[in-house]
Amino acid sequence: MRAKIVAGNWKMNKNAQETESLLAELFAKLPDTEAEVIVAPTFVNLATAVSCLENSIIQVAAQNMHFAENGAFTGEISTDMLLNINVDVVILGHSERRSHFGETDDLLSKKVQTALEKNMRIIFCFGEELEDRKSDNHFGVVESQLKNALFSLDASAFKNIVLAYEPVWAIGTGETASPEQAQEMHAFIRETIASKYDSSTANNVSILYGGSVKPANAKEIFSKPDVDGGLIGGASLNSDDFIAIIRGI
Ligand code: 13P
Repeated sequence: MRAKIVAGNWKMNKNAQETESLLAELFAKLPDTEAEVIVAPTFVNLATAVSCLENSIIQVAAQNMHFAENGAFTGEISTDMLLNINVDVVILGHSERRSHFGETDDLLSKKVQTALEKNMRIIFCFGEELEDRKSDNHFGVVESQLKNALFSLDASAFKNIVLAYEPVWAIGTGETASPEQAQEMHAFIRETIASKYDSSTANNVSILYGGSVKPANAKEIFSKPDVDGGLIGGASLNSDDFIAIIRGI
């Protein structure tokens, strides 16, 4: 059975003290859940997060990484540096990385390759822009994002990959995809993987939905058969909201 996952992408939020207090709240309030719970604070607070969560089932992820092992890449962070502080999950391909920092499918393909070589688990984000949906091109865009960054991999690589469908028009806008829109796209993603690989690969990969997931809409979105959890931005910055979303699984 594929994993259910609720992951919080904190983006560029929370200083060291705020990170510690939010994690202490999550640690104290986390209910029994069948979901894996992951949080992704900023790079500078990852080590703090790992130590705060030492005795918790909550896992820690990075929001990005470089594809090279080391070297002259000012401002960048390598997989070895993450693994060295016991972070073995990384978010790649977030739309903010793509749009603000020019990350292309080609670059993402290199990052994916490196992360897999290092045995890291990847939360791979993708999703269409508003214009793509308006012009009825959303399936085509999603298919090409998957194909360009992931489809040169062997089927076995998908054991270490979690997919996160995040329609750009729903990120931070308060406008979430309807549960039906999410289900329709997640089913399409699964079919696309089944036709490139096989049905077992498709059925075993977790596909998260991201984009304005809140306590009020989480349960309904998560109830859809091909939605295996969520990647949460804004609502993951408040412990009560994040816990309420986890309860929606
Ligand atoms: P919001 O939940 O704030 O819309 O952000 C979603 C997201 O980008 C998670 O990666």
